[in-house]
Amino acid sequence: MHILGLDIGGSGIKGAIVDVTDGALVTPRHRIPTPTPATPEAIVETAALVVQHFGWSGPIGCGFPAVIKGGIVHTAANISPRWIGVNGQQMFEQATGLSVLLLNDADAAGIAEMRLGAGRGRNGLVLMLTIGTGIGTALFLDGRLVPNTELGHIEIRGRDAERRASDGTRARKGWSYAAWAPRFDEYLQRISALLWPDLIIIGGGASRDFEKFARFLTVRVEIEPAQLRNEAGMIGAAIAAHERAAVAA
Ligand code: BGC
Repeated sequence: MHILGLDIGGSGIKGAIVDVTDGALVTPRHRIPTPTPATPEAIVETAALVVQHFGWSGPIGCGFPAVIKGGIVHTAANISPRWIGVNGQQMFEQATGLSVLLLNDADAAGIAEMRLGAGRGRNGLVLMLTIGTGIGTALFLDGRLVPNTELGHIEIRGRDAERRASDGTRARKGWSYAAWAPRFDEYLQRISALLWPDLIIIGGGASRDFEKFARFLTVRVEIEPAQLRNEAGMIGAAIAAHERAAVAA
């Protein structure tokens, strides 16, 4: 079963056709830089170009960097504020003429890791973090998603944690992983003290460099790098769209 998975990120809009049974990418991924400003029209047009690239005419799952409820975008931390209140799912459907499931990007990545990656078979409380332009979170209890958690925005030292500790901030400031890791470690300490997770999975752009910063982390909780790395968002979005179609059938 193949579904087109899309991942709308702060720096790129990526897509690939995904085999939802094993999470394999059936095609190489296609990426177009995210337009700035990241307005609804500009993003939807760019996403439609990614869809066209594949000549795709089936269902689409699309991870999006905001709270999404019933297709509607409710937050805009790293995108244009013009998104707030917009029915994003409908806009993507109109632009592509295809059925689209829109969901939070970290939730999508978490779904992929729980089904096919580092969280496979794991019960208890699992927190997936996507460390990229922002900090995305997906929370699972016994494998079941608690959707739309926004725990990247807890306050640390009077500031939004994402602004202090995301990979985007690290790159913008030109920090090495060694220089950034204490801030990220502090974030992990805080979030662990609030939730007491059994496992934290680190995904997003920073996951490819996990080995470079893992040794600086002192938090006493099991931590695993995402196995599907930065592709997890596309894969999980495709899985979620497939499962929605299966429920509706
Ligand atoms: C947004 C989240 C998103 C995360 C990762 C945050 O700024 O508030 O909704 O999941 O970035 O893209």
